[in-house]
Amino acid sequence: MPASSQRLRIGIDVGGSSIKCALVDVTTGERVERRSVPTPAQGSPETLLEAIAAATDGMPAEIPAGLAFPSVIVNGVVRTAAHLNRAWIGRALDRAAADRLGRPVAAINDADAAGLAEQRFGAAHDVAGTVLLLTLGTGIGSALFTRGVLVPNTELGHLKVGDAEAEERAAPRIKVERGLSWEAWIEEMNQVLATLHALLWPDVVVLCGGITQDADRFLPGLRCEAPIRIGRLRAEAGVVGAALAAPADDATDA
Ligand code: BGC
Repeated sequence: MPASSQRLRIGIDVGGSSIKCALVDVTTGERVERRSVPTPAQGSPETLLEAIAAATDGMPAEIPAGLAFPSVIVNGVVRTAAHLNRAWIGRALDRAAADRLGRPVAAINDADAAGLAEQRFGAAHDVAGTVLLLTLGTGIGSALFTRGVLVPNTELGHLKVGDAEAEERAAPRIKVERGLSWEAWIEEMNQVLATLHALLWPDVVVLCGGITQDADRFLPGLRCEAPIRIGRLRAEAGVVGAALAAPADDATDA
């Protein structure tokens, strides 16, 4: 592999509506090639793997991939399926994807991936203390760092806030499903932020996800004792973080 491509990894991010992937320079976070395909609705694991393979089709075979997935991932195995087909539970995602894609694959929780990217290249790169990152989308994902080190699979979107889970109150999906006004949604988010802050006392909170395109509509109304920052890598944090989590390329990194 030429020297320049030794820095490249494939990042894949499986979201509720699309599967995004890119060739990422892991030393700079730069995306060399970007692709996106629709996520099959609640399909079988095989259907989803097929769509992931279609998204990465034609990318150089020798380049390892990181796969950001909306579930708890322990040692490459899917352990939860809040918004996924439950047949995923117990499946070794890293092995299944490596077999299907014909390249080494490491799997990671999607919010953890976004956090890795924002901590390395984005909104939290200058924060040495505790960073709480929330991804706002179909669910609420969380990534927790202290001194730049990730505590994986924190799943704070499932924390009870009052009488319901945080993500059932304040995920942007809920805003749409319940037709919440910005004011009503901001109030839900403020309760989620107050609960999380009281437990974790982060130095900085980073918010990511498509809804952050409308940050000017909600940021002025959010209350939190910690400063709130909007993710800098926007919709591509997951892809970049997945690439950072990809396995080393034994052929060239040895
Ligand atoms: C899942 C998390 C995921 C988050 C964002 C939650 O429902 O439990 O694993 O990170 O959604 O996709």
